[in-house]
Amino acid sequence: MNTHIPPEAFAMPQEAEKTGPVLEVEGLSLSFRNEGGLLPIVTDVSFSIGRGEAVALVGESGCGKSITASAVMGLAPDNAVITGEIMLNGQRISGLPPKERRKLCGRHMGFIFQEPMTALHPTLTIGRQMTDTLRHNLALSHRAATDRAAELLAKVGIPRARDILKGYVHELSGGMRQRVMIALAISCGPSLIIADEPTTALDVTIQAQVLDLLEDMRRELDLAMLFITHDLEVVGDFCDRAVVMYAGDVVERATSRAVVETPRHPYTRGLIDAIPAHGETRHRLTPIPGTVPPVGTWPKGCRFAPRCLRADEQCRTRPELGPAGASLVRCWHPVEEARL
Ligand SMILES: Nc1ncnc2c1ncn2[C@@H]1O[C@H](COP(=O)(O)OP(=O)(O)O)[C@@H](O)[C@H]1O
Ligand SMILES: [Mg+2]
Repeated sequence: MNTHIPPEAFAMPQEAEKTGPVLEVEGLSLSFRNEGGLLPIVTDVSFSIGRGEAVALVGESGCGKSITASAVMGLAPDNAVITGEIMLNGQRISGLPPKERRKLCGRHMGFIFQEPMTALHPTLTIGRQMTDTLRHNLALSHRAATDRAAELLAKVGIPRARDILKGYVHELSGGMRQRVMIALAISCGPSLIIADEPTTALDVTIQAQVLDLLEDMRRELDLAMLFITHDLEVVGDFCDRAVVMYAGDVVERATSRAVVETPRHPYTRGLIDAIPAHGETRHRLTPIPGTVPPVGTWPKGCRFAPRCLRADEQCRTRPELGPAGASLVRCWHPVEEARL
């Protein structure tokens, strides 16, 4: 049974539980209801994020990263059936009705998407979008909201902030748009930021600048960050811990250092081997054979088995998440101490 928690319970999330995790996801599963019944999309996903911590959700395209994030945000499609628990600052939010849930967006959770043009309004000025958000969530006067919007733009490194407020998003470069989205995401003092491939659409140099900005904001504002990416190099540089997803499953969970340096799941190892080499120790560039099986066609046992060189009879049975070295892996035959 879902327990109704009044939104006032979230009035002071920063004060609510200074020591506990900001976000806890426990046994989250999501299926789509269609004519044929329920189609599983993600199964049994668990992780937590503490204050000031960045946790990566990593895996190839189609593994269920974005849909997991949408379930956390309360923005999953209407035909999604979601089970499991989602706690924000110690409060269970997974049971809240959609309307109450949406009230948490902006105020308590900020979002940054890959493509700002889909998240920012094309025909409203940047100032209007920012002040609407600030006035709605923080009940600021027009003037106070405008001042705060200008401060926020300056904070994310946008010059001539007052002029930019009068302009439109299409007038900005990709990197500047992403800075505006970061300013909006942090504008109402959320404790959690969800960033879904925030730098994937940007040039490499701009990517690095946006990542630096996100890291600065995380440290300065002590934000918990769920960072979705398919790029393991970014995971190693930017995140504290990592959750590796494959075909809707968590296959490895560890510190990002362990994931990058001593991966234990053959899938994670495959992702690392597929990174173009630029160090001296890694010479090969070996793509993982095959592709992620589409939803609805997953094998019953280990979902990675059809692409795995280690697979045997045992892998016809679904493995549980269990310890291997410094990681938790869903694998019958984890990779031995890495030779990276
Ligand atoms: N609204 C939707 N309706 C039906 N299937 C969807 C929908 N959104 C995502 N999917 C499917 O769910 C799977 C996971 O998608 P997604 O979370 O976007 O993956 P990722 O972000 O890891 O690339 C994909 O197979 C995708 O086709
Ligand atoms: Mg995605």
